[in-house]
Amino acid sequence: MIVALNNKSNLTKDEFLKYQEELGTIDAKSVLILCASPLNIANFNLTNCYLGSQNVSKDLVGAHTGEVAASQLKSYGVDYCIVGHSERRTDQKETNEEIAQKIKNLYEQGITPILCVGETKAEREEGKVNDVIEEEIRIATAKLTDKQKEELIVAYEPIWSIGTGLIPTNEEIIEVFDLIKGLLPTTKVLYGGSANEKNIDELKQCKTIDGYLLGGLSLKPDLLKVFLEKLEK
Ligand code: PGA
Repeated sequence: MIVALNNKSNLTKDEFLKYQEELGTIDAKSVLILCASPLNIANFNLTNCYLGSQNVSKDLVGAHTGEVAASQLKSYGVDYCIVGHSERRTDQKETNEEIAQKIKNLYEQGITPILCVGETKAEREEGKVNDVIEEEIRIATAKLTDKQKEELIVAYEPIWSIGTGLIPTNEEIIEVFDLIKGLLPTTKVLYGGSANEKNIDELKQCKTIDGYLLGGLSLKPDLLKVFLEKLEK
């Protein structure tokens, strides 16, 4: 199992250092990936997690004020990077084409992309789930080699589920995972959106789930431990 932790824009420097002390005591069988906020990347000091970023620039190193290039991430030991998170697709108006460019930049630096896809509530109600996800995946992966598709990680995150406490039924999850795995048969697929220590017993009945992307829970190491214990039981 892969368990990626998305801290988002949380944790000041001191809070992050204390957080790492707690996270460092976790002894999990799963592959843990800590996607720290950009400044905290420089203070990463754990040995039980891989280091991840939450974003990368679509541009290469150079005159792009405020951006962080893939080669800079690599120089800080980043091995994984979230791309296309719905918060960025909404807030920064990131397009599928830009996301494809980011994925290219990451592969050039040997960083594994974690591509987020997912539908809004309205898109689900209008029966557009498959169309939305298929387009997000088709454009983001159009130029990837078979080997890159094998290495890629996709996270299915229904937008209406992120931070809301709402989760899809296992049947709804399986339907989307079947679609994703039909398009990318060798790619690992994570579930993300309000996954926690309470609903993991139910979620883990979905044998197709290869791991989880955790937002809120990533900030609570004690509950994260409970989640991992239940997941790995
Ligand atoms: P959540 O966030 O677990 O707080 O719902 C998941 C995410 O946005 O990656």
